[in-house]
Amino acid sequence: MLTRRALLAAGAVTAGVLGMPQLLSRGVADAYVPTRRTVQPTAPFLRPMPVAPVLEPVSTRDGTDVYRIPIRNTSAEILQGIQTPLLGFAGQFAGPTIRARTGRPTQLTVTNEIDVPVNVHLHGGRTPADSDGHPMDVILPGKSRLYTYPNQQQGTTLWYHDHNMDTEAEHVYRGLAGAYIIEDPCEEYLGLPRGDYDVPIMLRDIQFDANGDLVVFDDVRKRTTILANGVSRPYFPVAARKYRFRLINTANDRTFQLSLSAGQLTQIGTDGGLLPAPVQVRTLELSSAERADVVIDFSRFPVGTKIELSDPVAGTILRFDVTRRVLFDFSRVPDKLRELPPMPRATVERDVNLSFDFSQLPSGGPVLGEINGKPYDDNRIDFTIKRGTTEIWTITSTDPPGVRHTFHMHLVQFRVLDRNGKPPLQSDAGLKDTVYLTAGETVRVQATFVPYTGRYLYHCHFLEHAMDGMMAQMNIVP
Ligand code: C2O
Ligand code: CU
Ligand code: CU
Repeated sequence: MLTRRALLAAGAVTAGVLGMPQLLSRGVADAYVPTRRTVQPTAPFLRPMPVAPVLEPVSTRDGTDVYRIPIRNTSAEILQGIQTPLLGFAGQFAGPTIRARTGRPTQLTVTNEIDVPVNVHLHGGRTPADSDGHPMDVILPGKSRLYTYPNQQQGTTLWYHDHNMDTEAEHVYRGLAGAYIIEDPCEEYLGLPRGDYDVPIMLRDIQFDANGDLVVFDDVRKRTTILANGVSRPYFPVAARKYRFRLINTANDRTFQLSLSAGQLTQIGTDGGLLPAPVQVRTLELSSAERADVVIDFSRFPVGTKIELSDPVAGTILRFDVTRRVLFDFSRVPDKLRELPPMPRATVERDVNLSFDFSQLPSGGPVLGEINGKPYDDNRIDFTIKRGTTEIWTITSTDPPGVRHTFHMHLVQFRVLDRNGKPPLQSDAGLKDTVYLTAGETVRVQATFVPYTGRYLYHCHFLEHAMDGMMAQMNIVP
């Protein structure tokens, strides 16, 4: 098997990943930016936002939900009148939603019906190592693999996506992502909006060429078309009542600053589950792979009101159209949601530095993404961790201004202790598996490494950075 370094040396990684803002701003990458006309979809608010269908289990015997998903080539009409080739779980863009339940295992058999290797990782899942979608545990074309997700964790919004060595960024960009919701019986009494009023929204960006084909690796700033559940600037008809929206940022490299043109975003949960109490947020920061669970109450708006969800860079992303009144809305957002689990005392401290190595660039070599000065090597274990240990990791970004990272750990949900020595931000609150860092920032996180042993990844979740090598492995040992 080729190591990451060998692949880099062999030039197997496209130069396209170099088209990143930090390089452009350094004036070194202009040569790599192809001049392509970027096609924009036509007018906004022409189409309703679809809600991905909930996948039906093929069996629910013995307390286990059994699912099958083929990975297929597919296409979707994102630009009017043009079918854009994409990849899809079950041939759908975005993939079907899986609704699991705390304590009830999911068995997912994925069949690879495309002609390159793929695999599946349940992001944010507390998953045994052999089902975690390690980049080298691939599903070859024509083959299947069984993933077991015990769902021994509290209710939250996860997502599943491809994690194949070297092609993860491209595969996720082409569509291999879907929502995975864990419903928690012990949260039902809270009375939060449910059923049709509990809606996952996957947000991402995308770039098209003049023919309507995807531009996969260019300059991430040219991914100016924003999709909500696969549709550019859709409207979403709502009743005048409360809705729970599970926002998932599935973009390869983008941080949204979301706000509403009217009404309130009430955040109730983060990556790993509910917050102790709801928080009103004016601007919701959501970086790649992060999730935010929010409630929006439309009840005080008359029918006909249109409310936009937007971002200062991307513009309007989605419009909520209040189209009908309801007689009753029995849902509520209680003042107290769910206490965070207690944090055991940490006994180990580690430093994790995220950086790019630009030194080979002048001679035409690759830009390496590195963690603690080393690009990913499948044959190297970076941290060995005794199972059950509670650790504090100090994560730093030492890259020049303009370079941002989003740090993700597999297996665990962590807590952000502080950011640059100051209290964490609202976007750091609660149980997290992914945390955003701008240049020069330092974030301390604490995690307890349970319950499984084996190899797990930690990496930057700007997926092109991870593909450049900004990824490492921890081995949890008994
Ligand atoms: Cu969202 Cu290593 O993954
Ligand atoms: Cu993950
Ligand atoms: Cu990064």
